[in-house]
Amino acid sequence: MFHLLNALRRKEAPVSANEVEPLKFRVRWMIRRDMPEVLEIEQAAFPISFRWSEDDFMHVLRRRTAIGMVAEECASERVAGFFIYESHAAAIELLTIAVGTEWRRCGAGRLMVERLKSKTTARRRSIRFDVNERNLAALKFFSALGFRAIATRRGVYDDCDDDAIAFRLTRDEMRFREYHQ
Ligand SMILES: CC(C)(COP(=O)(O)OP(=O)(O)OC[C@H]1O[C@@H](n2cnc3c(N)ncnc32)[C@H](O)[C@@H]1OP(=O)(O)O)[C@@H](O)C(=O)NCCC(=O)NCCS
Repeated sequence: MFHLLNALRRKEAPVSANEVEPLKFRVRWMIRRDMPEVLEIEQAAFPISFRWSEDDFMHVLRRRTAIGMVAEECASERVAGFFIYESHAAAIELLTIAVGTEWRRCGAGRLMVERLKSKTTARRRSIRFDVNERNLAALKFFSALGFRAIATRRGVYDDCDDDAIAFRLTRDEMRFREYHQ
């Protein structure tokens, strides 16, 4: 029996280190020291009227229900992106998400949303997020990740007349996608 098991093990082709794609980003909690890099990404990502200042970040992160996380590039340990979310009784609300311009379309945004998905529970069943109607990249990003546009919101922005598109992703929709992918 023992020999048989060993023989079976030997048959498995070893995975060479070169065949394994090294992890590009890791997601971890945001710490105070990240703030300069976070602000730099924020500055490049949003027009001035939508931009959060350091005080805005601190104000939001002081809320008991708000959590900030960053995607760190593994090789350089630089902050490549961040997101902040708030846990409510029945849903998770994504408050903001951004990736630094040099890391866009490399999967950092997707990885952060994957982490966010893992925060849903049987009680906290969905993730919601408002996207400015003009933000084409974000509209495509959230659609690609399975979010559904469920409503148009008027008058949500102080400084412009733009509408916001309310996106939502439920646990059932996540499961359905996983099953059919
Ligand atoms: C939206 C944003 C966070 C996406 O981050 P990202 O790391 O570039 O996204 P990913 O590489 O994980 O992309 C995942 C998928 O989303 C879609 N996508 C992302 N950006 C896209 C774009 N500019 N155009 C079309 N599709 C896009 C693609 O399907 C992509 O998969 P693919 O690259 O295999 O085709 C990033 O563009 C960003 O920071 N924008 C500025 C800030 C912002 O608008 N935040 C959201 C509103 S608060």
